[in-house]
Amino acid sequence: MPLLRVDSMTHYFGGLRAVHNYDLAIEPGQIRGLIGPNGAGKTTIFNLITGRYTPTEGKIVLEDREITGLQPHQIASLGLGRTFQNLRLWRHMNVLDHVKMAHYSKITYGLMGAFFGTPKRTREEAEIEDESYSLLELVGVSHLADQIVTNLPYGAQRRVELARALATQPKILFLDEPTAGMNPEELAQMMEIIRHVHAELELAIFLIEHRMKVVMDLCQVIQTLVFGEVIAEGNPDEIRNNPMVIDAYLGKEVEV
Ligand SMILES: Nc1ncnc2c1ncn2[C@@H]1O[C@H](COP(=O)(O)OP(=O)(O)OP(=O)(O)O)[C@@H](O)[C@H]1O
Ligand SMILES: [Mg+2]
Repeated sequence: MPLLRVDSMTHYFGGLRAVHNYDLAIEPGQIRGLIGPNGAGKTTIFNLITGRYTPTEGKIVLEDREITGLQPHQIASLGLGRTFQNLRLWRHMNVLDHVKMAHYSKITYGLMGAFFGTPKRTREEAEIEDESYSLLELVGVSHLADQIVTNLPYGAQRRVELARALATQPKILFLDEPTAGMNPEELAQMMEIIRHVHAELELAIFLIEHRMKVVMDLCQVIQTLVFGEVIAEGNPDEIRNNPMVIDAYLGKEVEV
């Protein structure tokens, strides 16, 4: 049984059909890629699966549970984590607090604990701090834990965002252009981190990327989306050599 399944998903923004008859099956532990020209509908697919929009038609199933139409926080707590195409970090908050904040969806100590500082609360707070710190270590920024996030270089901010997405312990992680805007050094580091996170946490990853090196090196299966429709799906070699993909996308605008 796939970890995540999408059947015949279609979405309209008013009169614009942004996604048409989209199917997806992600196996546990798989790394998948989604490529396609600007405006093809890639981010919309992420937004539909993660609950930001409800699809006009279609069905989304995570493990054995239908999640179509659930709220983003419900879908996140069922095991789907994500990062955004444009960084969304809080301006004046330090690195460690970013990751701690994401843990609070799991807290169980309740209102009395919050007021009176019960032992359970103290214990949970300490656990959250430890777990957050471990995630920062995993993505290589634990030495920056007390820094204000917006003062950091871009590559480090992207890592903090990744650690935050991991704080809810996702079974599957969606990354929307994780290397966009990075210099070559940051790019190489981010690819290493994605590999490391995948190996350590044994999660599935679904990746939108314009940089072909990243997609081809990391992904086992890649879909190509054009005008909201999948025109090809296959392993990196199949995608690289597919005439329709070359014509619609690879031949035009990207570094291969
Ligand atoms: N909230 C919205 N309301 C109306 N139209 C939208 C909305 N979000 C996206 N669109 C439109 O849907 C289409 C797909 O957009 P989307 O952002 O999913 O593309 P994309 O493949 O992620 O592109 P890029 O590579 O530039 O990030 C575009 O025509 C876009 O203008
Ligand atoms: Mg996008």
